[in-house]
Amino acid sequence: MTEPRPSATVPRHVAVVMDGNGRWARKRYMPRFFGHKAGVDVLVRAVNAFADRGVEHLSVFAFSSENWKRPTEEVSGLMSLVLVAVSKYLTKLAGDGVRIRIAGDREAVSDKLRQAWEQAERLTEHNRRITLTVAFNYGGRWDIVQACRAAVAQGLTPEQVDEAWLSRHMALAYAPDPDLFIRTGGEMRISNFLLWQSAYAEFYFTECLWPDFDAREIDAALAAYARRDRRFGTIAAPQLVPESS
Ligand code: IPE
Ligand code: IPE
Ligand code: MG
Repeated sequence: MTEPRPSATVPRHVAVVMDGNGRWARKRYMPRFFGHKAGVDVLVRAVNAFADRGVEHLSVFAFSSENWKRPTEEVSGLMSLVLVAVSKYLTKLAGDGVRIRIAGDREAVSDKLRQAWEQAERLTEHNRRITLTVAFNYGGRWDIVQACRAAVAQGLTPEQVDEAWLSRHMALAYAPDPDLFIRTGGEMRISNFLLWQSAYAEFYFTECLWPDFDAREIDAALAAYARRDRRFGTIAAPQLVPESS
């Protein structure tokens, strides 16, 4: 069972499209890979910062179904960066109480990478401070299709396929839907991240490039979230009417 939320103004689940690594590197006259490498270090700090602020789930977009379209060199650089990141940070994250989960199609990645993911999940499965979901070779459309395929494979009737069933078969079935969806890097789009799960997420877009996303930026995003009025299709809470004298 999950712990009670410290406060209703703190999101239980934050989703992040970590964008802007390439531009961050270019500004420094460095290769794009330099930005991706810096991005990993920032992610490790961000997990702890979000956990300290009471966030239970942090889900980050690390590699999209569409990122295969990038130059081969960048794709293979990203693949090997994951292996480096796991060997560099797994022990630390495990010690910090972080549970790691991977969301995405594992079929297309190498055996080595698959084994690294499995090792990260196994080593941290009993941790409860925060769950870090790394979406890798993930696409929101892929997620919906794989849940539909599960329904077909299990021989469900059309009546048996409903929102609750599909939600239970999505990659992030263990997490509540994201409350806050952050995208760094200035673009205002979802780029096929958690399409189904973000139906009622609050969106926060910032120009800040991912490698610059520090505790101050996190606090700004959480403060913006705390000011939002979430209605889920209902009407706004009645304003307090001053008593007539
Ligand atoms: C996001 O940074 C990381 C990945 C997609 C892997 P980008 O690589 O998209 O950086 P920009 O958007 O080109 O600056
Ligand atoms: C989204 O960023 C994917 C990740 C951050 C992993 P992209 O940089 O790939 O998105 P687009 O191409 O700008 O939409
Ligand atoms: Mg980008």
